[in-house]
Amino acid sequence: MTIRLLAPQVADAIAAGEVVERPAAVVKELVENSLDAGARRVTVEIRGAGRTLIRVVDDGSGIPPQDLGLAFQRHATSKVASLEDLRRISTLGFRGEALASVAAVSEVECRSGGARVRIRAGELTEEGAAMPVPGTVVEVRDLFANTPARLRFLKTEATEQAACLKVVQGYALLYAGVRFELLVEGRASLRTAGDGDQRRAAGAVLGSEAAAELMTVDGDGVRGLVSQPRLSRGSREGILLAVNRRPISSRSLGYAIEECYLGFLEKGRYPITVLDLGLDPGSVDVNVHPTKREVRFHDERSIFGQVQRSVRAALTQSQPYRLDSARTAAFDPLSPRLGAPVLHEAPPPMFAVSSKPPALADGPAGGVLRPLGQVLEGYLVAESAEGVVLVDQHAAHERVLYNHFLARLAGGPAASQPLLLPETVELDPGEAAAATEHGERLAALGFEVQEFGPRAVRVLATPVETPAGRVVEAVRELLAVMVDSRPQDLVEKAAASLACHSAVRFGDRLDATEQRRLLQELEETQNSVTCPHGRPTRLILDWQDLKRHFRRNY
Ligand SMILES: Nc1ncnc2c1ncn2[C@@H]1O[C@H](COP(=O)(O)OP(=O)(O)OP(=O)(O)O)[C@@H](O)[C@H]1O
Ligand SMILES: [Mg+2]
Repeated sequence: MTIRLLAPQVADAIAAGEVVERPAAVVKELVENSLDAGARRVTVEIRGAGRTLIRVVDDGSGIPPQDLGLAFQRHATSKVASLEDLRRISTLGFRGEALASVAAVSEVECRSGGARVRIRAGELTEEGAAMPVPGTVVEVRDLFANTPARLRFLKTEATEQAACLKVVQGYALLYAGVRFELLVEGRASLRTAGDGDQRRAAGAVLGSEAAAELMTVDGDGVRGLVSQPRLSRGSREGILLAVNRRPISSRSLGYAIEECYLGFLEKGRYPITVLDLGLDPGSVDVNVHPTKREVRFHDERSIFGQVQRSVRAALTQSQPYRLDSARTAAFDPLSPRLGAPVLHEAPPPMFAVSSKPPALADGPAGGVLRPLGQVLEGYLVAESAEGVVLVDQHAAHERVLYNHFLARLAGGPAASQPLLLPETVELDPGEAAAATEHGERLAALGFEVQEFGPRAVRVLATPVETPAGRVVEAVRELLAVMVDSRPQDLVEKAAASLACHSAVRFGDRLDATEQRRLLQELEETQNSVTCPHGRPTRLILDWQDLKRHFRRNY
């Protein structure tokens, strides 16, 4: 398609607003243009955090020489022509705004297929022939020099530079078939292979250790990579979400992802994700935000479900934590990988995490945890085909019970035991009301509870798993949680609370039979690598690592 000025009614239909508020926005727009032009190679160079220079070189289709000046006019685009086109956007660009907006606040030189233009603060200053180049070169200098107000809004150089890097990283992850190179002050800070292998691209962006900790998501229209529970970050910065390979920000889908990690990550920890939703362009409106960051889904609920199903399916493949002394030594903290996430931020805090593929998958496995004993009043020691396994008895039991309780709340058979002496539990009025309101849920869990005045209930029977001595505390906490939880996570919170108050505690002595039973239950339970609060249930000390440590390398 050739470049044309949009008809006024089409131009008016485009979400208007500030397009380039910072250097990273320029990088984003130029890279998007290269990708829309079908480039297989995109080289980005920045100096002075983008204020001095942003240069993007691609090997895409190029701009016809006679259209080069036109490309820099507002509403000039080759990507859409009609209002109908705006309803089915399948390119990253569609507004015909980016180049004009960039040229308005900088000095730009663009070369493509033997022609060249130079534009300063929106005015065409030079136009002519140039040495032919394969694709397109855009150079942006002195960004915001003529708009001091915007300069003042910029953050520190380091922050602006990191934002530029993040943009390129995002596209590098989503376009694994494109070879990206980012030069910062002349030094390569990112280079991808462009061979189409997303995991390899992730290795270039995140480091190979982190990339090895990512699990493949492929189903329900969602593709990409998500981190194992044992790899996480302290912020949401690692969450990349895209629609038709356009990075977007969406609170709701961000929440969908985070919710999948409930019970896998501790509070305040976030996964690393690269998720791309493949949608019919007609079912998502991209033309809602001036910088194209936000989109509107025609059916957000079903997309929410798609995201959750696909991420949850991937998470069932989660691997247990491993203790690996060797890697800690191999890690070079000085290696300057700009902006890469720090794997060692990942829990558990005291141990590094090994990235080699473990022999055994999580979940119902062949039943081979052989108990060896209990140490430090709270850990079970066991032996498996993989090595020595240390189990946090409380966390492990919590996970087992949590899954039981969830199953019951989902309609499974209750398993109840009558109390020899009914217990009276004093409550505040809200909790007492919750006992009535959630009567069916309590019964599903295995409780038999009677009203006993406005501020108490009588408990006649409990779930078989809840020790008699802890009934009062368990019921009170359970009702408190039911009062406090939002409806959408009430079931999980209730199950977690009851599991916590029913599980063996740190410090409880377990005899050999109890140890064996707990280990067996742990092996049979789903998602057993973490307790419902996201803490690890077990830690594997690999035989190979043991051998290496003791120099038994045969
Ligand atoms: N690197 C490039 N290779 C080939 N053509 C390009 C390149 N950059 C820009 N163009 C052409 O110039 C036009 C204008 O680019 P511009 O980025 O301003 O608008 P757009 O990409 O159409 O929409 P948007 O404003 O949403 O980015 C594009 O439609 C495209 O035809
Ligand atoms: Mg564009």
